[in-house]
Amino acid sequence: MDAIKLLTEDHKTVRGYLDDLEATTPRALKARADLLAKIRVELKAHTTIEEEIFYPAFQSHGKKGDDDKMYFEALEEHRAAGDLVLPDLLGTAVDSEQFSGRAKVLKELVTHHADEEEKDMFPRAKTLLSKEELLALGEKMAARKTVLIAELRATT
Ligand SMILES: [Fe+2]
Ligand SMILES: [Fe+2]
Repeated sequence: MDAIKLLTEDHKTVRGYLDDLEATTPRALKARADLLAKIRVELKAHTTIEEEIFYPAFQSHGKKGDDDKMYFEALEEHRAAGDLVLPDLLGTAVDSEQFSGRAKVLKELVTHHADEEEKDMFPRAKTLLSKEELLALGEKMAARKTVLIAELRATT
């Protein structure tokens, strides 16, 4: 599968989970816990395949300046969402008011980041990489994602 298509479909999946999570009430304990578990696995698998496979290809084909800036900014956004806000949310009681606020912040961060990738980085990648290269990256990411999902599901 084409790399851009795979990553864009991942975004759609995670956006859906985050929308569903935002719509839950503090009383929906099981729904919140289930969605949070799905978000953790999807988000971590997605950012990992980007960081290990897609971003390095983007950076190596890109130019110093704007492309580099986009690359480093994307990494920082992964760090903010994945290393700071998500662990915080995972450590928050699902029936608390804090949970709703933190879930909203995670959604805003992830949505902003995915929008920027879809608006700027992915169209730019299509000009930097050939169709064949994007297909090869997609295959590589799909295989890596399968392994990551299994590993992530085995750990909580
Ligand atoms: Fe990303
Ligand atoms: Fe992404």
